[in-house]
Amino acid sequence: MSALEGTRVRLRPLAPTEYSSVFAWYNDAETVAPFDRFSVDTFDDFVAAVAAAPDDPASLAPRFAVERKDEGTVVGVVGHYRAHPVLEYTDVWYILGDRGARGKGFGRDAVRLLVDHVFATIGPERVGATSDVENVASCRLLEALGFRLEGTLRSALFHHGRWHDVRVYGLTRSEWATTVPRA
Ligand SMILES: CC(C)(COP(=O)(O)OP(=O)(O)OC[C@H]1O[C@@H](n2cnc3c(N)ncnc32)[C@H](O)[C@@H]1OP(=O)(O)O)[C@@H](O)C(=O)NCCC(=O)NCCS
Repeated sequence: MSALEGTRVRLRPLAPTEYSSVFAWYNDAETVAPFDRFSVDTFDDFVAAVAAAPDDPASLAPRFAVERKDEGTVVGVVGHYRAHPVLEYTDVWYILGDRGARGKGFGRDAVRLLVDHVFATIGPERVGATSDVENVASCRLLEALGFRLEGTLRSALFHHGRWHDVRVYGLTRSEWATTVPRA
């Protein structure tokens, strides 16, 4: 698959030489706790999950590396998954494991590319995302891209020793086509 080119980042498949550094992010509680959905116990499990992901719409494994265009470094990973066994929508997720890369617009550019890709290739009428209500950067990122807040799931996510409320966001194909900033 060719890369998806944004203004600040490109999305491309992870190279096997990058697996170990990405896997290390999954052992960083501050990076994964805000969503905490994809748990892999071993490096071998991680490698197997990445390999199997293209054939599994529900896979939570990373589907793209987020590469900074200015430095050529991989600063994060993103993915998408069929989130419900009956309802027909696809959720997106995203992490910048490189903390120094956060707050500079890379996340928003990456998710914009990801949403475009999901609408174009998987073809749902709705793309969704969830975010801990306390994850301000994640909520603002989604809202800046045009996602609408559809509701709040109370006490739906456990991390840091307590339950957290989770916001449910959604974006329809027609909203994305007509209202979303392209860069
Ligand atoms: C959430 C995350 C992907 C956001 O990506 P990012 O590149 O840091 O965010 P951006 O620079 O694109 O900014 C997106 C918005 O969030 C705001 N923002 C960024 N960091 C912020 C922070 N620490 N506190 C408050 N707002 C913040 C930006 O101002 C921007 O809002 P605006 O458009 O209203 O100005 C990234 O911070 C991250 O990976 N965090 C850890 C893992 C995580 O939480 N993943 C998401 C789980 S749902």
